[in-house]
Amino acid sequence: MSQFKGQHILSVNQFDRQSIEHIFTIADKMAPYAKRQKRTSVLEGAILGNLFFEPSTRTRVSFGCAFNLLGGEVRETTGMGSSALSKGESLFDTARIISSYSDVIAMRHPEAGSVANFAKGSRVPVLNGGDGANEHPTQALLDLFTIEKELLHSGNKIDGLDITLMGDLKYGRTVHSLSKLLSLYNNIHFTLVSPKALALPDSILSVIDNAGHKLTISDDLQGNLNADIVYQTRVQEERFDNKEEANQYRGRFRLNQKIYTEHCKSNTVIMHPLPRDSRAEANELDNDMNANPNLAIFRQADNGVLVRMALFALTLGVENIVDKYESQVPWYSTKHQD
Ligand code: CP
Repeated sequence: MSQFKGQHILSVNQFDRQSIEHIFTIADKMAPYAKRQKRTSVLEGAILGNLFFEPSTRTRVSFGCAFNLLGGEVRETTGMGSSALSKGESLFDTARIISSYSDVIAMRHPEAGSVANFAKGSRVPVLNGGDGANEHPTQALLDLFTIEKELLHSGNKIDGLDITLMGDLKYGRTVHSLSKLLSLYNNIHFTLVSPKALALPDSILSVIDNAGHKLTISDDLQGNLNADIVYQTRVQEERFDNKEEANQYRGRFRLNQKIYTEHCKSNTVIMHPLPRDSRAEANELDNDMNANPNLAIFRQADNGVLVRMALFALTLGVENIVDKYESQVPWYSTKHQD
């Protein structure tokens, strides 16, 4: 039986290299369904409760698509204001109610630790879609899955990776979760580029350090772009006490094609969890990079569907029977052209 059947997915601390490899093997098997080459109804009759108490485009929609692609149905609430939480209902009560309506729950909430607290009241598995500045475990898995795929092109593996993480490393939960996952591998060179006030928290630095990886800390962007992977992040303005404070850092580290040509390796892969802040005062990852084949940001977002399908299949215990419920796609799908 899978170690994930019936389990919550709350933190990357739950994973080791073996379990990550297993998730990625299942994710690879989801590609024909995600590309609409085939359908599966393995989760027919199951309901996902998709609860997003904080803004989201990718995570919310890809959780929903992933569940639909496995044959299940999705019910969701978006925003704190449209939920009874805004009337004083507790996370525990909300969890008891929604878990009786659903077979699995995906949830995002602005407070660190809130998804784990919610899970205590849930009678079904809860998947953390981001809890404040704490963690974003499914994003970290899809980021790692993407890194592995991108490195394959150059014949490299995650062991020995040279990665630059830049931007808001203090509040960027995707960086926190990804750093912990990468620390499970060997001989990683982490270069952390941020303003000093937005440095990676000590608790995450300790994980990297205790695992014996090489660490470079800098506030200089251009001297640190010569890596296998450059992972850009957005200033997480929603986590600052006031917007003026966030404005000090907006646009501090910008990446565009000219900078890429001058400072990156010819095959440096550019990643970003998205959303990238494309407003003029930020423009942290310029649109002129869109034609660069090493820009992996949209492949990252696509991979999110595969990884989330795998997590649903595993937590609901159907990972080995997805193809038994397979059928043809009777309608014309543009995805066949991928
Ligand atoms: N990467 C990510 O979490 O994006 P969303 O905020 O759009 O879900």
